[in-house]
Amino acid sequence: MPGNPQKVKHDHTTLFFPEGFLWGAATSAHQVEGNNVNSDWWDFEQKNQPPEKRSGLACDQYNRYAEDFELAKNLNHNAHRLSIEWARIEPKEGEFDQPAIDHYVQVLKALKDKGFTVMLTLHHFTNPKWLADKGGWKNGKVVFYFERFVKKIVPELQEYVDLWITINEPNVYAYNCYFLGVWPPQKKSKWLALKVLWNMAKAHKKAYNWIHKLTPTSRVGAACNVASLGFYHKHSIIEALTVWATDSFGNHLFYKLTGNKYHDFLGLNYYFNQNFSYDKKHTVFPPVADISISKKDVSDMGWEIYPEGIFDVLMDFADYKLPIYITENGIATTNDDRRCRFLIAYLKEIYHAIEAGVEVKGYFHWSLIDNFEWANGFEPRFGLVEIDYQTQKRTLRPSSKVYAEIIKTNGIYHHLLRFLGHTVQAEEVLYPKVTG
Ligand code: FCB
Repeated sequence: MPGNPQKVKHDHTTLFFPEGFLWGAATSAHQVEGNNVNSDWWDFEQKNQPPEKRSGLACDQYNRYAEDFELAKNLNHNAHRLSIEWARIEPKEGEFDQPAIDHYVQVLKALKDKGFTVMLTLHHFTNPKWLADKGGWKNGKVVFYFERFVKKIVPELQEYVDLWITINEPNVYAYNCYFLGVWPPQKKSKWLALKVLWNMAKAHKKAYNWIHKLTPTSRVGAACNVASLGFYHKHSIIEALTVWATDSFGNHLFYKLTGNKYHDFLGLNYYFNQNFSYDKKHTVFPPVADISISKKDVSDMGWEIYPEGIFDVLMDFADYKLPIYITENGIATTNDDRRCRFLIAYLKEIYHAIEAGVEVKGYFHWSLIDNFEWANGFEPRFGLVEIDYQTQKRTLRPSSKVYAEIIKTNGIYHHLLRFLGHTVQAEEVLYPKVTG
């Protein structure tokens, strides 16, 4: 159970967050930079994906990073999460590309010059093509390759990084790439998925040690995708067991394999709620189906909108007794009023978790700008800022302003809570009519 309550200022109209709370947005290199030609994902897109589902120029952030950081700054963000691309830095095995490294120094320096707290991810789903050709994360030697990459890049960038994420969502990576086989290298084997998770846990531990050795004051963690879970019939053993297994393998296995001593904080990406119900028509074991999404509000990805779930996972992960950052949370929608409501509703739940004693230190919304959503291409719109992919023009959505106001207040001012009522539109909340 949570302990360690943080000081939260009170008044009767605002849900204040703790002082020094980090507010920002998250992105990943392949999803925004463009032309990531030496990566396994690029190769997969050319061979397996239709043209509209190839990343191409993406958001051209490789060239437009200064403009995007300026937007985030003007929207009051005080922190930013981004990733670097291993395939650019080490395009050939053992050969590091100095101009690519210098580029990332410039990118991170641009963030620091604007006063951001920087959270940097070292691995966010993509690999150099040469590594994939050698068997990628199922090859035990990957631990050595990742360690070599970490030892090279950390001293170059450490001056500009406050929080390190070694690996993004090892659980999702192993599941999508080696269990479901929907992402490269499209393997379908539960044993390989476990092996990959095992190798990622080893690589994380090595990286944790190296980063601490090279920069002793740094703070290092990983970002795991965690789902809130429930079941419908309290006497159903099969439903309860399904929740237990999903929780143990999906939510906690990576943290159990690595152990508390290899995490200075927990990074939690929250998108999913699952509610299991016995279903005898379900042919694959166990005979249960996730019925929550068939009942409720879902995003354009088909993911259920369930703000209470973020409270549940925070209460659960408080048991690790480590500071927590929400390293991703967001909604794919073309209806920005929904995004505004989403932000307020999820942040309200985070506020309640903090009040209940969970040490949440920051929130990174996914995402700053619309971007390339992996196998789904460009259609899902996750951005606080809209991208016109024809012109690369950036346009602020109302949700970016709602978030800016929350950050300025360091809390959720009462009039924003009204917005949770479904008839209220973003414009009314942002620019209330003065009456009388
Ligand atoms: C997460 C990924 C991120 C993005 C969001 C929508 O699982 O870490 O790259 O695709 O989902």
